[in-house]
Amino acid sequence: MTVFEKVFGTAPEGVWAAPGRVNLIGEHTDYNDGFVMPFALPHTTVASVARRDDGLLRVHSGDMPGGIVELRLDELTPGRDDGWASYPAGVVWALREAGHRLTGADIHYESTVPTGAGLSSSAALEVVTALALNDLHGLGVERPAMALLCQRAENVYVGAPTGIMDQTASACCTAGHALFVDTRDGSQRQVPLDLAAEGMRLLVVDTRVKHAHSDGSYAERRAGCEAGAAALGVPALRDIPFDGLAAALDRLRQGGHDESILGLVRHIVTENHRVEQVIELLDAGRTRDIGAVLTAGHVSLRDDFRISCAELDLVVDTANASGALGARMTGGGFGGSAIVLAESDAAEKITEAVVSAFAAAGLQEPRVFTAVPSAGARKV
Ligand code: GLA
Repeated sequence: MTVFEKVFGTAPEGVWAAPGRVNLIGEHTDYNDGFVMPFALPHTTVASVARRDDGLLRVHSGDMPGGIVELRLDELTPGRDDGWASYPAGVVWALREAGHRLTGADIHYESTVPTGAGLSSSAALEVVTALALNDLHGLGVERPAMALLCQRAENVYVGAPTGIMDQTASACCTAGHALFVDTRDGSQRQVPLDLAAEGMRLLVVDTRVKHAHSDGSYAERRAGCEAGAAALGVPALRDIPFDGLAAALDRLRQGGHDESILGLVRHIVTENHRVEQVIELLDAGRTRDIGAVLTAGHVSLRDDFRISCAELDLVVDTANASGALGARMTGGGFGGSAIVLAESDAAEKITEAVVSAFAAAGLQEPRVFTAVPSAGARKV
């Protein structure tokens, strides 16, 4: 008997999975109409689902305490706090808001995506819910639109002002590729990324320092970027070209803006440029050379955007001092995970060095794994 049957007393109609992600490059650019380049992890959130016809949404998670959470579809309203269930509830709310007719569902979730690690466990939960309901009800929502609905669930229903990257990664990534997205027009390109074939590995180091998006720092950075764009008279910081950065910073200085706004602008403009550099290097087969660009991205997030923390810096500095090709924090920041690009035969040594550095600093042992670009959301 499956867990679904034990919990709900009937058989599910199907099982769906959606992955977490790491971001290779392009951090905090997504709400600035900029470029991102995430790839999907092998870690997924799996949903077993059966429709109901009585207007009830009943959700249950193998990873969360508290048993079944039961909600009435017509009582779902933004701002309600149902803990983890707010994510699937938000997706149901967003689908209904978009005019889709839903009649209720029983859903059981199991996840291998680490939570609070900056690896998009929330997006995986949202996207797997949207995909399952889309398939079961024949809604015909395309993947990019599905990502937008899930983002709306997170922004409006849950109340976290995140961009579009994580949901797009979970919905649209394909195995063996990183996904380049221009978040202004939503255009996408699957960029082949087979590090193992080139003798390299991308390590993910989860510092186990919990990050949270709703704690205000993310929203503060977002508001700062919007203020910077407004001061420069452009719709978004995306509109400041790399070779126009110095002039833009001069203008902000003349306008009396302080160094913190200048730092935000500098990060976004240089980060978009770094995404373009990484694509050029990958297209040219110069994969090893992206390492230096990743590290430059970390320095920018640390010094200009100011969202790193001691543990993330320790991973990056230790990895680079132990022979990594490059390293940087990934995701929203203030904790969570870093990525390390390494020659395959150096990965073990680098991992040991990072683990020892954490022990020497009296920190909890980090969780380290090799990330292989994996498939996006799917029916299993
Ligand atoms: C979080 C958000 C994304 C993005 C990243 C930073 O993961 O959900 O939209 O802004 O932070 O790049």
